[in-house]
Amino acid sequence: MHRRLIVPGVLAASLLLAVPASAADFAPGAPGIGDAYYPASGNGGYDVSHYDLRLTYQPATDLLQGTATLLTTATQNLSRFNLDFGLSVDEVLVNGKKAAFAKSGSQELEITPATPLKQGQSATVVVRYAGKPSSFSVDGYTAWQRTPDGGVAAQEPDSAAWWFPSNDHPLDKATFDVSVSVPDGTQAISNGVLQSQTSKLGWTRYSWRSNKPQATYLTTLAVGRFDITTDTTANGLPIVNAYSKDLGDNAGAARASVERTGEVVDWLSGVFGPYPFNAVGGYVPNVPSGFALETQTRVFYSPRQFARGSNVSVVVHELAHQWYGDSVSVKGWKDIWLNEGFASYSQWLWSEKEGEGTAQELADYVYAVHPADDPFWTVKPGDPGPENQFAGAVYDRGALALQALRNRIGDEDFFAILKGWPAERAYGNASVADFVAYAERVSGERLGPLFDTWLFQPSKPAAGSAPASAA
Ligand code: ARG
Ligand code: ZN
Repeated sequence: MHRRLIVPGVLAASLLLAVPASAADFAPGAPGIGDAYYPASGNGGYDVSHYDLRLTYQPATDLLQGTATLLTTATQNLSRFNLDFGLSVDEVLVNGKKAAFAKSGSQELEITPATPLKQGQSATVVVRYAGKPSSFSVDGYTAWQRTPDGGVAAQEPDSAAWWFPSNDHPLDKATFDVSVSVPDGTQAISNGVLQSQTSKLGWTRYSWRSNKPQATYLTTLAVGRFDITTDTTANGLPIVNAYSKDLGDNAGAARASVERTGEVVDWLSGVFGPYPFNAVGGYVPNVPSGFALETQTRVFYSPRQFARGSNVSVVVHELAHQWYGDSVSVKGWKDIWLNEGFASYSQWLWSEKEGEGTAQELADYVYAVHPADDPFWTVKPGDPGPENQFAGAVYDRGALALQALRNRIGDEDFFAILKGWPAERAYGNASVADFVAYAERVSGERLGPLFDTWLFQPSKPAAGSAPASAA
């Protein structure tokens, strides 16, 4: 049986749509999505559901060119909207028609479609572009590292503007097809599953698909000469790892660490619940940097992470982010503790399992090693400010806060929360306040003061509130 309900409101809305809109009803989308730390990040007025990037990269010249096709929906009546992008643009089409475009500032691309977009309308946006990512930087910051054999896009909080136009903020996640053609003998690595690899006329095209919502900064590209290993985890998840052929002395330790990805992801699944994606792995390009990044399903590791020998702890940290950061993403960058506090705490749990010190011992150590006048305690992990977004305190004091929570509510509720939260918020966004409310709901306790002490005070919590004695 087919029943149709006619709601007066819906009827009224459809009548309204029939009235031709005047130009005054359309306004430009905001040039930022409203992030408290990074006002220019992301944009207002539309939502992207899918990115299709079809690119060519020549390592010898650092020239990246091709087409980005974005599937978008207007969330307001739009006369104009912005994308975040740093390379030069040749042409923009909106729903097949040429659109006017202009650069504004260093990384805003203003697009004026031939016909304004109505709220709720879908718009396919095609951007044709070419440029050298190494020639773009913002106040000395670059997310692109050129290597002797290629280049890598991996940085936080921004990396997309170096290689594709986007709504560059974790609030607007989308699925991705990334297809990159490189000279034969060179590989292109990205997120998700390799759909195809085809060679002709001296060029090989690698086509990758990431089929779950993915933040723009977690979308990565690495071009270079890699050794690639493939396997499946005990749970049947496909693993693809890639190692630059040029890792020198670090090659052994890098492999001895990253090849443990399957073991680590299975262990983390026991703590955090089912792994949220359909592929996993890591890559180690021959970059000079020292950091690692939780690029979705395919973690970026700098070779220097392995300079002192194997470092499974960093593998644990970056894979923990697949739940805490990638599947459940921040609402705003001030919520960074939801990423780094939990990824750091997972390293303590791993240490405990490996017999290298319990989480409690590591918490006591961090508490003791920083005296009260150490500037470490002036950073508030719950709102560290953009200048301290990746300060040590966000990680270590952030993990201390979780040990304090564990001691307050007990292991049963604590581990129920560690597993329940990624399920509750899978593929979405959350704030620190959302997490506090969730922890209060699961534990039945009032936890505001505890989180205020550990996350929001610019001073060392008193010994009485230290994790060890709070038990
Ligand atoms: N989320 C990354 C990690 O903790 C941090 C990357 C920070 N970026 C940097 N250049 N240090 O693994
Ligand atoms: Zn991290």
